[in-house]
Amino acid sequence: MNFPITRMRRLRRNATLRRMVRETHLSVDDLILPLFVREGRDVKIAIKSMPGNYQWSVDTLTEECRVIEQLGIPGVILFGIPDEKDAEGSSAHAEDAIVCQAVESIKRACPDLCVITDVCLCEYTDHGHCGIIAENLDGNLDVDNDATLDVLVKEALAHARAGADMVAPSDMMDGRVAEIRDALDDNGFHDLPIMAYSAKYASAFYGPFREAAESPPQFGDRSSYQMDPANLKEAMREIAMDIEEGADIVMVKPALPYLDVIRWAADEFDLPLAAYNVSGEFAMIKAAAANGWIDERRAAMECLTSIKRAGAKLILTYWAKDAAKWLRE
Ligand code: PBG
Repeated sequence: MNFPITRMRRLRRNATLRRMVRETHLSVDDLILPLFVREGRDVKIAIKSMPGNYQWSVDTLTEECRVIEQLGIPGVILFGIPDEKDAEGSSAHAEDAIVCQAVESIKRACPDLCVITDVCLCEYTDHGHCGIIAENLDGNLDVDNDATLDVLVKEALAHARAGADMVAPSDMMDGRVAEIRDALDDNGFHDLPIMAYSAKYASAFYGPFREAAESPPQFGDRSSYQMDPANLKEAMREIAMDIEEGADIVMVKPALPYLDVIRWAADEFDLPLAAYNVSGEFAMIKAAAANGWIDERRAAMECLTSIKRAGAKLILTYWAKDAAKWLRE
């Protein structure tokens, strides 16, 4: 493999040749769009840190889902912003929970759209943590793993009963996939898949999401349940556990600072792998583009292609609508 016999540039000379030897293909089939839903009617509130994203009410969100389906995007994932928050996050599993209302309405309008629900408590608790708070061994307030499992199970069941096509626990409690799988099976939902946020890191890149979902923790941070960014082997243990507990799809989150985790997980496990291109990854490029410092379309497509190249099959991304349009052109 030596110059001048080998010339790498021979296959880069024009667009046709480059197209012929391209190794990674991003498809609209890979995209899942995160959406935020709140109470009310005719609501469409812009999320400042995430241009082009909104808090919707059920009616406006349902109309938006028709557009999303028209673009060929196969799935959406819903995050609820309830009117009432309490210490136990009870609005997460009430019969009229905002996400349940949204699922029912969207499925009526778009039966073929895969409606996934995020199962977590941080949007529903007044303290903003992803579970029930109790004192830990050190005498500090912390999320109580086992007490939280019961509430997560109720939430997942409420979503299933409303007609969700898939549930996605993002809380990072130990054992939640097994408990949710069990409860779904006991209630006739044995065919409902679970997409587990398996390797979810305690990341600074969730900042804009917490504004969007109105869910910042009111004390401390999430590092006693989300993963330490420094760890890679631990991610493989988390994923292996979720698979053993019955996950159908496993996820790495965030995506771009963790492409090595995605690659390793893709090599290690055979399940479909998802990656969450999170709010901070999106906001950075939006902000740079707004300043004229970066070409948004090229940067976004490069990021999404990188996530696919690293080994993810599914990508949760706020660029899903734009990417669907760009992929058509
Ligand atoms: C928790 C959840 C979070 C995100 C998705 N699910 C926030 C958190 O853990 O604080 C972040 C997604 C993003 O930043 O785009 N329900």
